[in-house]
Amino acid sequence: MKQFLIAGNWKMNTDINSTSDLLESIWNLKKNYSNSVQVLVCPPFTNLSQANKTLQDKPIHLGAQNCYWEPKGAFTGEISLDMIKSCGCNYVIIGHSERRSLFGETNQMINNKLHAILSSGLIPIVCIGETLEERREGRTFVVLEEQIVNSLEGIDEKIQDIVVAYEPVWAIGTGVAATEEQVDEAHNKLREMLNNKFGSTANKTLILYGGSVTSENADSIFKLTNVNGALIGGASLKAETFVTIINTAEKYV
Ligand code: 13P
Repeated sequence: MKQFLIAGNWKMNTDINSTSDLLESIWNLKKNYSNSVQVLVCPPFTNLSQANKTLQDKPIHLGAQNCYWEPKGAFTGEISLDMIKSCGCNYVIIGHSERRSLFGETNQMINNKLHAILSSGLIPIVCIGETLEERREGRTFVVLEEQIVNSLEGIDEKIQDIVVAYEPVWAIGTGVAATEEQVDEAHNKLREMLNNKFGSTANKTLILYGGSVTSENADSIFKLTNVNGALIGGASLKAETFVTIINTAEKYV
């Protein structure tokens, strides 16, 4: 049976009150969740504790949008995995293109974070994706392979414990999602790259698509063989659209 993860990346949106409001709205619209469609929300760090209180033991997972790899110490402004865990999170997004392009994160830094997350027992969501320029130059798969090889270095069989999110940079926040053919091609290729590097264990790795996912285009994406869900920005900030996207995934399990 196909497994899905529907993840909301709230980015730098919401405060303590609106975090609770949004979670309560999601819960009011949907109370039954399938075991094959895991649902995750990733509010800003400052709202995680409040989100955890609001969610209590509801079947909606909580995740962080970033982390630091050191356990503690003089790293002003950084957040450790123990801190994230103590807020009730079980997922952490790393390598988002906004972190790569605006905050200078490299594949090496992402790899350090990845190893720390795996040691902590949390589930990493590793984001990769090409820019528009790289796609126009026909370098999409070279770039994706480089990101896979370097950011996933040294994890071996733990490949099955991670989630990969394919987010073409040009599709993020633009309203222009990748076409069905582009998503299909990229996800098939990513599965092949993961299989080549890690063997058949990588068949268990969930591969999410991200970039202008909406309640309208979710169906055409979720029906594709190697798509296991979505990492959703804008559309995860509205309870109705987020719930519609979750319900769409449930059609395919
Ligand atoms: P949008 O869904 O707003 O395009 O954002 C995608 C994204 O970056 C999720 O991590």
